[in-house]
Formats: sequence, C-alpha cells, structure tokens
Amino acid sequence: HLRPPQREDGGILSRGNCRAKGGAPGFKVAILGASGGIGQPLSMLMKMNPLVSVLHLYDVANTPGVTADLSHMDTTAVVRGFLGKEQLESALVGMDLVIIPAGVPRKPGMTRDDLFKINAGIVQSLCEGVAKFCPRAIVNIISNPVNSTVAIAAEVFKRAGVYNPKLLMGVTTLDVARANTFVAEVLGVDPKAVNIPVVGGHAGVTILPLLSQVQPSCYFTKQEVEYLTNRIQNGGTEVVEAKAGAGSATLSMAYAAVKYADACLRGLRGDADVIECAFVASEVTELPFFATKVQLGRGGIEVVFPLGPLNEYERAGLEQAKKELKASIEKGISFVRN
Ligand code: NAI
Repeated sequence: HLRPPQREDGGILSRGNCRAKGGAPGFKVAILGASGGIGQPLSMLMKMNPLVSVLHLYDVANTPGVTADLSHMDTTAVVRGFLGKEQLESALVGMDLVIIPAGVPRKPGMTRDDLFKINAGIVQSLCEGVAKFCPRAIVNIISNPVNSTVAIAAEVFKRAGVYNPKLLMGVTTLDVARANTFVAEVLGVDPKAVNIPVVGGHAGVTILPLLSQVQPSCYFTKQEVEYLTNRIQNGGTEVVEAKAGAGSATLSMAYAAVKYADACLRGLRGDADVIECAFVASEVTELPFFATKVQLGRGGIEVVFPLGPLNEYERAGLEQAKKELKASIEKGISFVRN
C-alpha cells in the first residue's frame, strides 16, 4: 500500500516501539485466527484498546484485507498482518499476549467435543509456534473444545520445555457474561450490577454457575435456579441454533475475549485486584485444570481462588462437571502424547 514520504528527522512518533504515545505502557498482542467470525471483531476491539501498542493479526486466510481495513482506525495501536505458516514466526516474536480463536465453530446438533478432530491439530501447531517464538507470552485459548485445547497447549509447552502454568488460560468469560445477563434479566436489574462466578469448564454440564454466590447477594427460587443453570449451560447452543448453520457466538465472544485480554494487560501493567474467571492449571479439585476466579498480575495468574461455599445443588453439579471434564482433559493430553 501507499507509504508516506520519509521525513528527514525520522518523525516525532517512532512507530512500532512498545511504548504508546505519552510514555504510557503499551503491550504487543497477537491474534491467531484474526480473520474469523470472532477474530475480526476481536481485532477491532483490541485496536481500540489503549493498552495495546502493537497488534499482530495472523491467519491462514484474508489477513491482508482485515489488516488494511483496521489500520485506518485512528487509534494508537499499530496493526500488522501475517498470512500463512511461514509468517507465524514474525507474527509471534516479541509478543506479550497471544489470543487464539483459530479453528472451526459448531453447527446445529454439534457438541464442542465434535470440533476436537480439527481444532486439536490447529491449537497444537499454533502453540508449537508460541513455544518457539514467544515462550514468555500470556496465552488466551478460545478455540473449542476449551476443556481439551488448554490441556493440548500445556502438553506442547511441556514438550518444548517452556511450560509456565501461570501464562496459560482458557477463556470462559462468555459464560460469566451470559450468567450476568440472564440473572439480571430475572432480577430486573442492570447486568453491570451483577456478578456470578462460573466455574468448572466450558461445555454443557461442565459450565457451573455458582448462583448461591451472586453479588449483590440475593435469593433464587428452585425454579429460577433450574431455569438459569440450564440457560447458562446452553447459551452457546442457543446462538448456534439461531445462526442455523452460520456458526456460533462471535460478537458476544469477541466482547468477552477483549474483556479477558484487557484484564490480562491490566495485570501485566501491575494493577491491583484484577479478578476474572478462567480455565487454568489448578489444585482446587483433583483435576489438573479447572475454571475458578483467578487474580491476574505481572506474572500472569497470581492467585487461583478456591470454590467457596457451595449449596447441595451446586455440589451435585460439581460432581457431574468433574466427570466430563476429566475425560476431556485426558483426551487433550493423550492427543499430544500419542
Ligand atoms: P471461524 O471459522 O469464523 O474463524 C476461524 C478462523 O480461524 C478462520 O479465519 C480460519 O481461517 C482460521 N484458522 C483456521 N486454521 C488456522 C490455523 N492453522 N492458523 C491460523 N488460523 C486458522 O470461527 P469462529 O466463529 O471465529 O470460532 C473460532 C473458535 O472459537 C471455534 O473453535 C469456536 O468453537 C470457538 N469459540 C469459543 C468460545 C469460548 O467461549 N471460548 C465461544 C465461541 C466460539
């Protein structure tokens, strides 16, 4: 594309260094799968994030167009596009945060596990790149089935000798957004005023909203608990069916991914009390990975919070969730090991 004529003094604002204008810290972020249904709105929202100084868009298709388009937005982040495997290295070197929404989405009638066959290999090969070219970056995994793909990423990093469990996270923020939205609708309040921890994993019964821990605290009837739990667990399917073959949640997911990525960057900047739910390496249960509230900081995940008090309904849900999660995690691990 057209380049501006060179200025003799080199220009006042040297582009591409990792400090945003005014000396505020800026971070380098790569999005892998940037041309997709999630990737495009996610890239746009990250281009608008003042904490981002450099934004790398990587995909196996269409990144030149997406990059040219976004590069005309008059926000601080410098956008660069990368296309195909031979450009993965340049896309990843120097990154602070890598967000991965690459892979196929569900169609009506499919479970997230049905995506395993295709997405497992995609996540494996992209994480091999991360291990090689930016092993100290925080990695946000969006590609489904998250309950397996996070275990795949961990195995890839272990194999490469670079695994740091504090830097690897499965993004479950959309489950929390749905929980807040559906609960607010029942209570007749602004969703911004509600906060529900959602623990476990990111598929069907492994999505466990802890309605007893709703903030601000309130009481739900048995009927409300059953309705809300069911709607939160099947929120993704609601969108898949409404899109009728055109994919799964993309816009709400991009919103949720940016909410989580922004929390990671605020943590890196050193902000206090940055707390979100995420699917991470965990000792909260006997499983190696589990979603709970975590605190994000300069080193990635700094605290993994315990579950807190559960009622009888939630304890039963937890047992069900753990059974399915165990199988999904083992499937991911054995995919890489065998
Ligand atoms: P999409 O099909 O619209 O986009 C996927 C993108 O990945 C495409 O641009 C494709 O070219 C790219 N891609 C494929 N192989 C690649 C590779 N090897 N390297 C780089 N890029 C590659 O799909 P959509 O709707 O954006 O969904 C992406 C993933 O996110 C799906 O697996 C979906 O299930 C998952 N998802 C996760 C959610 C969560 O809460 N964690 C919520 C919604 C979707």
